[in-house]
Amino acid sequence: MSGMIPSVILALDVEDKNRARSVLQATGDRLEWVKIGLQTYLRDGPDFVREVADSGKKVFLDLKLHDIPNTMCKAMESLASLPIGMLTLHACAGPQALNKCTEVANELMPDTLLLAVTVLTSMDEEALSAIGVNVSPQDQVDRLANLATESGIGGIVCSPLELTRLRPVLPKNVKLVTPGIRPTGTAAGDQKRIMTPADARAAGADYLVVGRPILAHEDPLAALEAIQTELSHPPND
Ligand code: C5P
Repeated sequence: MSGMIPSVILALDVEDKNRARSVLQATGDRLEWVKIGLQTYLRDGPDFVREVADSGKKVFLDLKLHDIPNTMCKAMESLASLPIGMLTLHACAGPQALNKCTEVANELMPDTLLLAVTVLTSMDEEALSAIGVNVSPQDQVDRLANLATESGIGGIVCSPLELTRLRPVLPKNVKLVTPGIRPTGTAAGDQKRIMTPADARAAGADYLVVGRPILAHEDPLAALEAIQTELSHPPND
């Protein structure tokens, strides 16, 4: 197998800061990236983002911004002083918003990779149709991923099963970030479209977002290391 080894991003979806701190301590230097989502950001705020960054981690702030272009840009200006390595926004905010956000990021957050969310994996064809989008989820993902990358967005969040579709058609420098990762033998939980770390690597992922397989493990460091070992020595290599 060739290609880069994807980095693991820990989705820090935990009940409070103390639990977050103990997981970060347990995983230590083996963990490079941490995803902070709406639940944690709204509860613990920018100070917690700084705390995580000060502990040596890179922060993926998963706020999924979606508003009129001016408001999205102002929101990004409010975030610009934070140490954020990745930030999500919704591709369906449209080309003007995506272009303007790219400009703001280039100017104020040059070290932050903007990631576009295409179709939420909770949306199926019926749900898309209910909001007036009468195409398959796959076609909508393709459309929005192309729109986002043409607008200068540097990465796409996608389900593992979309990797094989998107990787060949998107520019090589566009990063693909995928949740829904389940090492063999771990519980799927509510995730339906899942892939093992090795398969996600083979399909072209650049970053794997992993939450419960690490968080719910009695030894989070061992769980992280097992994933990293699988990534660097895939079973079919
Ligand atoms: O615990 P688990 O590994 O399923 O966590 C996956 C993380 O990725 C969670 O933070 C979840 O909100 C996020 N996510 C997802 N599916 C998407 C987009 C984001 O599971 N389509």
